[in-house]
Amino acid sequence: MPAPSAEDLLAAARALLPLAVAPYSGFRVAAALEDRAGTVHPGVNVESASFGLTICAERNAVHGAVARGFRDFQRIAIVSDGARQLLPCGACRQVLLEHAPDLLVVTEGADGRPEEVPIRDLLPRPFTRRGSL
Ligand code: THU
Repeated sequence: MPAPSAEDLLAAARALLPLAVAPYSGFRVAAALEDRAGTVHPGVNVESASFGLTICAERNAVHGAVARGFRDFQRIAIVSDGARQLLPCGACRQVLLEHAPDLLVVTEGADGRPEEVPIRDLLPRPFTRRGSL
């Protein structure tokens, strides 16, 4: 079976948007995290009444997949029901880079077409405990 296109991965993320829990911000986010075996792991943002406890879609996807024994992620598509060209927040960039330094972030570009951005480009000179990833 051919690998899903960037559009396919964005469509998988878009299908997850109804699962997001965003009553406070009204900004739903969904992520489709693909590992090298082709399995796609879901993530959505889940907000808390104690706002700071909110979890972003990207970290939800990574941590959920890791907890189920999956590793070796190659792409993550992220979408929102708000503006286009959604890119991960700083906290999510850190976590994504730690788990998958060669990850490609698939986002819907300003022209509506998918754009693939290496996570390393989104977080130059990252914090690590070992000095390198
Ligand atoms: N959010 C994400 O899920 N991912 C991001 O990369 C940025 C922000 C969520 C958190 C919060 O529930 C809502 O978007 C508004 O900030």
